[in-house]
Amino acid sequence: MAQIIDGKAVSASVKEEVAAETAKLRDEHGLKVGLAVVIVGSDPASRVYVNNKKKACEAVGFQSYEYALDESTTQEQLLDLVEVLNRDSRVNGILVQLPLPKHIDEKAVINAISPAKDVDAFHPENVGRIMIGEYSFLPCTPAGVMRLIESTGVDITGKQCVVIGRSNIVGKPQAMLLLQKNGTVTICHSKTKNLKEICLGADILVVAIGRAKFVTGDMIKEGAVVIDVGMDRDENGKLCGDVDFESAEKRAGYITPVPGGVGPMTIAMLMKNTLTAAKQQAGIQ
Ligand code: GUN
Repeated sequence: MAQIIDGKAVSASVKEEVAAETAKLRDEHGLKVGLAVVIVGSDPASRVYVNNKKKACEAVGFQSYEYALDESTTQEQLLDLVEVLNRDSRVNGILVQLPLPKHIDEKAVINAISPAKDVDAFHPENVGRIMIGEYSFLPCTPAGVMRLIESTGVDITGKQCVVIGRSNIVGKPQAMLLLQKNGTVTICHSKTKNLKEICLGADILVVAIGRAKFVTGDMIKEGAVVIDVGMDRDENGKLCGDVDFESAEKRAGYITPVPGGVGPMTIAMLMKNTLTAAKQQAGIQ
C-alpha cells in the first residue's frame, strides 16, 4: 500500500517559509511584497482561484491588489493595465488569471508582462530560461510537483521518469525540471504507443493529461512515486484525478491524492515566486 503524499502539509510548510522570509524583509529592509491579480469576466472557477490567491497573500503577509475587469474589457485596455502594473513599484508580481475572454489574445497579454514580474513563468523569456537552467521563477504546478517528490526523500538522479502530458504549463517544464535533477525522462501524450509498457518502467510517474482515472494500477511499477496533476470529474460528478487512486495506491510506493495533493502546492509556489521577484527587484538575494 502506498504512502500518501500530503500536499496540504507540504504546501503549509512552503507558505510558512515564505511568511517568515516576508517578515524578515519587512523588518530588516522595510520592504513590502505585493502581488497584482487581474481577472477579466465572471468565470466562477476563476473567481474561486483568485479568491484563494488573495487569501494566501494575506496568510503570508503580502499586499494583494485585485483588478476585477468587466467581460467587455478590450485587449488594449488590458494591455494598458499590464503596462501600469509593470511600472508600479508596489507590485512585485503580476498574475493575469486565465482563461481570458475569447476576444483577447492570451499570448499578447502574457508577452506584455514584464519577465521580472511574471510569477506564473509563462513569458517566453522565462520559458527559455527554464530550458537552459538559468531561471528565477518556475511555473507553479511543476515546481510544486518537484517539491512533493522531494518530500518523499526519493532521489531523482538516474531514475526513469515518465511525464504524461505535454502542455506548455505542466508537461514540458515538468520534463525539464526532472532532467535537471538527473532523471532519465520520457514524455508521453495522447498519441504515444505502448503507453502501458512505458509507464510500467517509471520509477517516477507524473500524470497531467486531463482525463479522469486514465492511469490504472496495472500501469504502475511496484513502489513507484505517482504524482497526479489532474483535476477531473468521475462518472458520478465527483472530483478525481488522472490516476485511478484506488487501484494505483495498491502498487505505488508514494502517491498524491486528489484533492489534497498537487492542488494546494500551486498557490504556495506562486507565493514563493512572488517573494523571489520582490527580492530580485530590491537587489536582495
Ligand atoms: N488559470 C488556471 N491556472 C492558472 C495559473 O496557474 N495561472 C494563471 N494565470 N491562470 C490560471
